[in-house]
Amino acid sequence: MKRTKYSVIIIGSGISGLYAAIKLHKEAKVKDGILIVTKTQLIESNSKYAQGGMVCVLPENKLDSCTLHIEDTLKAGAGLSDRKAAEYISEKSAQVVKELQNIGVNFDRDENNKLKFTKEAAHSVNRILHAGGDATGFCIENALVKYLLTQKDIKFYEQTLAVEILTDKYKQARGIIAYNYNENEYELIEAQAVVVATGGIGQLYAHTTNPDITTGDGIALAYRCGAIVKDMEFVQFHPTAFSLGANGTMFLISEAVRGEGAKLVNKIGKTFMEKYDKRLELAPRDIVTRAISNEMKETNTTNVYLNATHINELKFEKRFPTIYATCLEYNINPAKDYIPVSPSAHYFMGGIKTQINGITSIKGLYAIGEAACTGLHGANRLASNSILECAVTAYELVNYLKTQDLEVKEVPINDFKQIMEAYEKEIIKDNDFNEEKTIEKIKTIMWNNVGIIRNGKKLSEAKEEIENISKEFEYGYKCPNRKYYEIRNMLIIANLIIDFALNRKESRGAHYREDYPQTDLIARSREITKKG
Ligand code: SIN
Repeated sequence: MKRTKYSVIIIGSGISGLYAAIKLHKEAKVKDGILIVTKTQLIESNSKYAQGGMVCVLPENKLDSCTLHIEDTLKAGAGLSDRKAAEYISEKSAQVVKELQNIGVNFDRDENNKLKFTKEAAHSVNRILHAGGDATGFCIENALVKYLLTQKDIKFYEQTLAVEILTDKYKQARGIIAYNYNENEYELIEAQAVVVATGGIGQLYAHTTNPDITTGDGIALAYRCGAIVKDMEFVQFHPTAFSLGANGTMFLISEAVRGEGAKLVNKIGKTFMEKYDKRLELAPRDIVTRAISNEMKETNTTNVYLNATHINELKFEKRFPTIYATCLEYNINPAKDYIPVSPSAHYFMGGIKTQINGITSIKGLYAIGEAACTGLHGANRLASNSILECAVTAYELVNYLKTQDLEVKEVPINDFKQIMEAYEKEIIKDNDFNEEKTIEKIKTIMWNNVGIIRNGKKLSEAKEEIENISKEFEYGYKCPNRKYYEIRNMLIIANLIIDFALNRKESRGAHYREDYPQTDLIARSREITKKG
């Protein structure tokens, strides 16, 4: 097996991973270089699909303040958000936005060249910056990729999956095993710092706004090597994914459309949010999602509608160009027609337990962005806090790594002997095992039994079914192809989500149990590590 070394390996190329790489390269002493390992292409990530925007508390936004933003974040988090994380991230928002602008990110401005702020659910004021109208994630990601490509000594491997995080006999992370699935080649890469920035887990569900790559890989790898994971039951379902032409991966209809006044209506065109919450369409995401789900059940339909016809066509096209173009492809003109929408898995509040600077429970292993659980989101994330968290955790990680010696220290060959042998072994593919069918099965179980409305019976059934699939799946280490590794990771994450959801005998934020509809005021966040 080829063996190389880098000061820092970043797994994942979303906003947090790219920003961390660029900032590290500018500010830290990385004698052995920086390597980004990404599953498909540098530009492909969960971040790229974020539409609504990025929260930023700026002094020129007179109605806003960190105090207000922190209160909104904590309220949405339903009692489980970490106040210190919320304070820190809010206070750093202006600084990271300035740095992103210096790298080349252009947020939308009005005719007087002032930054525009929009609103989404559960925000008390307009405080969300956006770019390209409704293409905020893409615009930030694209600017970061463009900048990064000018920095010739930041290396990147595309079509490459990290399949193992290597730890030495002191349980310190010392590198990864990378698998280029195009070339079918493995490489052992040593590093002084391993950073997980692999995003979320949306693809564990039959319906998701997340792209194909989001199979929870980084979280599963960190758990396999002994890192603490936290809040794994909290999966956020976005209320409004476009339900026409949807297969499994659904196009998002940004909450910002409701922020601009769009109303939810049922199949007879009647508004219904007044039955559920006095904040109506701008109630927290979990409440709107459950309201839609209930309305669909009561009216025996597979979707409801978003009525944005009060926005004139030119304005809609200018403000939401991506949504406008996508709807038109399906003969829906949002200025004239109702948009069919239904809920879809969207964001993972849980993940690898970290401090704000990405430090995990394993020395040398860091996590940032959606894969990390800083405690900011608690049981339910406030809209557009995710890109902010991506940027602040990357920013703080680099500030920490700058103070560390990043020269790679030699690891005794014997420390990796066993794991290298496992990955060098020839393996035989089990021809009775169908990857596509297995993935579909996992997604269906998760959607039906571990979704928006949960109960003990459905969760226990899911546990048994996932355990049965895990028994059939014989590959602990080396797998025959990329899909097998993804299944290995999905099974680990599915097991964890189910275990945490069974354990939480209450309803809170995005975790709703019909058998325990009340909130247990003394229940806290839960965290675990792998046994053995
Ligand atoms: C949206 O645009 O509705 C999504 C924003 C977010 O997930 O924060």
